[in-house]
Amino acid sequence: MTVMNRQYTLADSDFEFFQRLITVQTGIVINETKKELVYSRLSKRIRALGLSGFSEYIDLLRNVDSKDELVAVINAITTNLTAFFREEHHFEYIEQTLLPELIRKNRNSKKIRIWSAGCSTGEEPYSLAMVLAENLGADWDWKILATDIDTDVLNTARSRIYSAERITGISAERQKRWLKKGTGPNSGLVQIKKELGEHISFNPLNLMDRPWPMSGKFDFIFCRNVIIYFDMPTKTKLVERYADQLVDDGHLFIGHSESLFQVTDRYDSVGNTIYRKR
Ligand SMILES: C[S@@+](CC[C@H](N)C(=O)[O-])C[C@H]1O[C@@H](n2cnc3c(N)ncnc32)[C@H](O)[C@@H]1O
Repeated sequence: MTVMNRQYTLADSDFEFFQRLITVQTGIVINETKKELVYSRLSKRIRALGLSGFSEYIDLLRNVDSKDELVAVINAITTNLTAFFREEHHFEYIEQTLLPELIRKNRNSKKIRIWSAGCSTGEEPYSLAMVLAENLGADWDWKILATDIDTDVLNTARSRIYSAERITGISAERQKRWLKKGTGPNSGLVQIKKELGEHISFNPLNLMDRPWPMSGKFDFIFCRNVIIYFDMPTKTKLVERYADQLVDDGHLFIGHSESLFQVTDRYDSVGNTIYRKR
C-alpha cells in the first residue's frame, strides 16, 4: 500500500528500494509493518535537503558519491532503544559467576577484553564498566570495545552525558559513585565519570563488514537486541563469527527475546540468554 496521506508519496517501489538498501547494507530486515517508520524518518531527511520527494531522494542515493547520505539513512532507520543495567540478570551473572572465573583464569595476564557489539548510546558498556571497576583491582588491565553502525549514537556515548530520567536503572549507591550531577544550565543532566570512560573505546563498525578490524580475542561479547532485526542466515553467520572472536570458554550474551536455538550449535546455554563457546 502506498503511503500518501502526507507531504510526500512513498510508492511501493520506493519502499522496496529502501528495504533492499537497508538489508544489503546492515543486515536489518525491514518488513511491510515498517513502512510508516521508513516514511516518517526519511521524510525528515528529504525536508532537510530541500528535495521534492522520495524519487529525488532515491536518485541522490543512487549516485556513487552519496556515501554520507547513506550513513544518514542508516542512522535514521536503526532502532537504538537501550537502558542502563537493561536485563539486570546479565550484570548479576557477570559479578557473581563470570568475573570470579575470569579473575582465576586470567590471574597471570591480569587482562580482560570485552566487546559491546551494537552498543547504541553507551548505557550498556558504561553499566559493564561500573561492574568491572567495582570488582577488579587497579592492577587489572580491562578494556571494553563498544561498537555500533549508527554514528549519531556513538557521539552521544562518547559525551558520557545523559538526561537524569535515563539513570533510573542505576542504583543510588552507583549513582553516587560513578555520576556527576549537572548544575546551573546543566541541571537535569548527569555525566559518567571520566575514569570509567577511559576503559571504553567507542568505534563505528558495521557487523556485516568482513573482516572485522580487531585482531585480539574477547573474554565475553554482549550483542543484545541486535540479531532480532536480522534474518536466520545472517544471525547464524554473525554468532559463529563471534565464536571465532571469543577465547576458549568465552561467553556471548544476547537479548531477552533472542535465542541461539536452531541458530548454531557452537555454544552451550549456561543461563537465560547467556551462552558459552563450546
Ligand atoms: C536496540 S539497540 C540495542 C542496544 C543495546 N545492545 C541494548 O541491548 O540495550 C540495537 C543497536 O544495534 C545497532 N545495529 C543494528 N544493525 C547493526 C549492524 N549491522 N552493525 C552494527 N550495529 C548495528 C543499532 O544501530 C542499534 O544501536
